[in-house]
Amino acid sequence: MAFCKLLLTVLVLLHNSGGLLGNEVRSSIIGAEDAQKERWPWMVHLNVTSKDSKTVKWRCGATIVAKQWVLTSAHCVANLDYHRSFVAIGAYQLKKESNRYMGIGNIVSHVQYQDLGNSNYENDIALIKLKKPLAFSKDVAPVDLPDKDDTFGPSSECWITGWGEVGNGVPLKDPETLQQLKISIISQSTCKGRFPQIAPNTLCTSDTKGRGACKGDYGGPLVCRKRGKFVQVGIMSSGGCGPNDRPGICTEVAKYLTFINDYIHRPGKAPAEM
Ligand SMILES: *[C@@H]1O[C@H](CO)[C@@H](O)[C@H](O)[C@H]1NC(C)=O
Repeated sequence: MAFCKLLLTVLVLLHNSGGLLGNEVRSSIIGAEDAQKERWPWMVHLNVTSKDSKTVKWRCGATIVAKQWVLTSAHCVANLDYHRSFVAIGAYQLKKESNRYMGIGNIVSHVQYQDLGNSNYENDIALIKLKKPLAFSKDVAPVDLPDKDDTFGPSSECWITGWGEVGNGVPLKDPETLQQLKISIISQSTCKGRFPQIAPNTLCTSDTKGRGACKGDYGGPLVCRKRGKFVQVGIMSSGGCGPNDRPGICTEVAKYLTFINDYIHRPGKAPAEM
C-alpha cells in the first residue's frame, strides 16, 4: 500500500496586485500507517508459489469469512501451486514467528472470472478452503459481510489493509507490519471517467494524495463502517498505484453473496480436496 506515484503539485500563484508571478513546487510522499494490532483480525497473508516450472512467487491479502474459508481475488490464486503456497493467519508482522501457517485444501474461483489484460479483471473473486478449520481468538476472527442491498459511497468511512509495496517496486520494510489506510469510495461515474474499461460489479477508491493499494495488497479487503462495525465491502483487485493514474478497483462483495454463501454454508458443494 503506498503513495505510489510522486505527487507533484505545482501552484502557480498569480498576484494580480503587482502583476507578480510567483510559483511554488511542492512534492510529498505519504504512505499508509502501521495498523493497530488485533484491529483487523480477519486479515490473512497469502504466500503464493506458481505451479509452472519457472517458479514465480507473489503475495496477496485475503480475509477470513468462515471457520474454514478465506476470501480473496481470483487473479491472486490463478496458477497457484497448492503444495508450495500457504496462508498466514493472526499475522501482524510477517517477519515474526507468532504467525500461524495453514495449508490450502482447495480453491474455488468464480466461474466467470476473466483476466481482461492490462491488470484489469472481471469477477475477480475466489474462496480458499483451508486444510483445517480455524480456532477463532482475539487476532483470528471472521469479517462481517454486507447485506445484499447495502450501499456504501463517498461518505462511508472505509479502510484498506495490506502488506503490499509501499512504493512502485519498493517492498514493505522489516518486520513488515500490516499497513492501514483510510480511503474513500468514489462514484461510478467519476471512476468511469478516469478508467472507462472498468468491469461490472466493482467499486472504486481514490485518495486525494494518490495513496492506495499496490502490488501485494490485492486480494485484501476494503472494509467500511456500518452501524459501528466494519463489513467487507470490497476485495482489492487492481489499480490504486502504478501506471495510468488508475483509481483503486475493488470487486463489490455485495454482488457476490450467493457465490460466497453457497460454498461457506454448504460444504458439500465444494469440490473434493486436492
Ligand atoms: C513467502 O514465505 C517465505 C518463507 O517464509 C519467505 O521467504 C518469502 O519472502 C515469502 N514470500 C512472499 C512473497 O511474501
